[in-house]
Amino acid sequence: MKIIRSPQEMTVWSQEQALAGRTIGFVPTMGFFHEGHLALMRRAGELADQVVVSLFVNPTQFGPQEDLTAYPRDFERDQALADSVGVEVIFAPEAEDMYPYGAKTAVTVGEELTGQLCGTSRPGHFTGVATVVSKLFNIVRPDLAVFGEKDFQQLAVIRQMTTDLNFGVKIIGHPVIREKDGLAMSSRNTYLQPKERESALSLFRALAMARTLVAEGKRDAAQLTVELERFILSFPGTAVDYISFVDQFTLQPVAEVNKDTVLALAVKINGRVRLIDNGFVDEKTL
Ligand code: PAF
Repeated sequence: MKIIRSPQEMTVWSQEQALAGRTIGFVPTMGFFHEGHLALMRRAGELADQVVVSLFVNPTQFGPQEDLTAYPRDFERDQALADSVGVEVIFAPEAEDMYPYGAKTAVTVGEELTGQLCGTSRPGHFTGVATVVSKLFNIVRPDLAVFGEKDFQQLAVIRQMTTDLNFGVKIIGHPVIREKDGLAMSSRNTYLQPKERESALSLFRALAMARTLVAEGKRDAAQLTVELERFILSFPGTAVDYISFVDQFTLQPVAEVNKDTVLALAVKINGRVRLIDNGFVDEKTL
């Protein structure tokens, strides 16, 4: 497995693959790999000849009060894990290589997709994501890119941006990978103390509860939200950032749950660890 640090060298490598007729499957990451990341890499390997993984903790998608400096990092461990699933290249640039003149140009996807859910509690976050993913697409020049559906809004934003800016990259969504007890895998789970880990289960359990309520015929989003909020707050240390029933394509809130409705959740544990999860809630789509 190759480690490439320079954007120029990365592009040259990709051009060589294109000339040799080999396709590139790309998995953009911020590192500290868990089984969720490895599943994306394996999927990319099934769909393309070569897999490139970027490992870059992108400063422009973190707000001033967020966890940029605390974000977990372990390059050696990541290298071994990526190697174990057949990744050909880890592209791991420094911030100075990605933004040599500062971040003077930005890609912003319209308010319809970015103006709610995580876009409200993390202003500027999706511009940071769309900009860095655009830059990564230009540097790596993949045929396809695989993103996790846990970051459901991010996936919608990237799909829109890829279409609007004619990147010609096929975007593949991968289902959420969960721990045995249902907790969605996330690098941020490493911040959780054992007691907080129990409270983190409130998200998955709320999804399960919503499915049961919908199966019983309760489809009014406002009423369901009240019940789910009460349930989540019964776990110690939880604060709800949002509970939102939205359309899977437009991300706009819905009044009545239907087969295209996704329940999106963001919960803070002890004011420190912000976790998200989402899923369909109607048995017709499950
Ligand atoms: O999902 C992530 O890890 C990041 O938002 C991404 C897509 C790698 C961009 O920095």
